[in-house]
Amino acid sequence: MSGKINDGLEGIVVAETELSDVEGEAGRLTIGGFALEQLAGLRTFEWAIALLLDGAPPSEAREHALSRELAAARVEVFDSARQRIDPARDGMDALRASIAGLNGDQENPVRVISSVLVFVATWARTRCGLEPLRPSATATMAEDYLHLITGETNVEKVAALNSYLVSVIDHGLNASTFAARVVASTGSDLVSAVTAGIGALKGPLHGGAPGPVLDMLDAVQASGDAAAWLANELEQGRRIMGMGHRIYRTRDPRAFVLERALSKLAAAGIAAPRLATAKQVEQAAAEALKRKYPNRSLQTNVEFYTAVLLDTIGLPRWAFAPTFAVGRTPGWCAHVAEQRRKGRLIRPASVYVGSRHEHGPTVKSPEAREPEWNHGQQK
Ligand code: COA
Repeated sequence: MSGKINDGLEGIVVAETELSDVEGEAGRLTIGGFALEQLAGLRTFEWAIALLLDGAPPSEAREHALSRELAAARVEVFDSARQRIDPARDGMDALRASIAGLNGDQENPVRVISSVLVFVATWARTRCGLEPLRPSATATMAEDYLHLITGETNVEKVAALNSYLVSVIDHGLNASTFAARVVASTGSDLVSAVTAGIGALKGPLHGGAPGPVLDMLDAVQASGDAAAWLANELEQGRRIMGMGHRIYRTRDPRAFVLERALSKLAAAGIAAPRLATAKQVEQAAAEALKRKYPNRSLQTNVEFYTAVLLDTIGLPRWAFAPTFAVGRTPGWCAHVAEQRRKGRLIRPASVYVGSRHEHGPTVKSPEAREPEWNHGQQK
């Protein structure tokens, strides 16, 4: 097949969705019909989950019922969590393996969303050398998650985490959501689709960036010269984590929302230890990228302030990517349902650039072929 290639599928539209809209030039994010700013800091994560799963804003009764259902599912999956997770592994590896281990007949999004939260929290707690805590049957997801990992119940930190979870719940056809939809389009099950989403999210170009953002802030602080440190990174051909985006040509709207959550924390007396360095690095990075790529607007993405916020509320940096998975799983589940309603296999085409031989390969008879495992050994 021949044809124009859109590298990385850039600009290719492959689905209609009612779940979210990412407007790159305007720097606007709409989730389930609401501007991000109408949700983050104002609605619970449960409210946003109901919005995506039901396709309509939930009533108070629906929000509470879903919250109870999610909490009950967390309590239920907790007992198996310890056997399923391996604290010695990387968080995304441990999460992928534990979710992949669920039966494919678990088509219940509530169960899958709750499993992801409990597996990550149990993994993180065990990795800290602490006894895993039992989920609460009454807490919200943000309350429970913070408590299960840090043992804390601070309301301001819970509110900040809630803002974060709502901000990342869905984001158009990002790589992990696309991966989940491709799997769902084959008629496969929800667990397989979410497992694919986790695999895609792990990469540093997608959800794996916030841990490295914190490493960068520490390295810049140690160097004492943000501009020189960043220039050296770019010279070495390395990417600046937390900067640039495939769709946004502006600063990521989620960066503003997370900064606002950090300001609320500061007003409550919870200062962000790395905020001053982050602001300095952000400005220096934007300037350095502008110099290097004058024709491409590479600005702050969600991961930059995710790192600062999750660090401030006390989550360890190695739990950042799995925390992103906790926030994004409801989006994956809603996309899987939407893809199924569409019912069409996603199967793009490729352009073959390999050779075409005129004659078939020369094949030796099986007797004349030397077994590969015999190489270098006595016959
Ligand atoms: N640091 C350095 N260079 C960057 C960069 C960054 N953060 N983001 C993009 N670039 C470079 C690319 O390497 C490319 O250079 P090239 O033409 O010499 O190959 C050029 O800028 C244009 O890149 P673009 O097409 O805009 O990037 P993309 O759409 O392929 O990738 C990201 C988008 C997010 C993968 C990319 O910006 C990136 O790697 N960012 C850092 C990782 C990160 O923060 N990920 C989280 C995303 S939410």
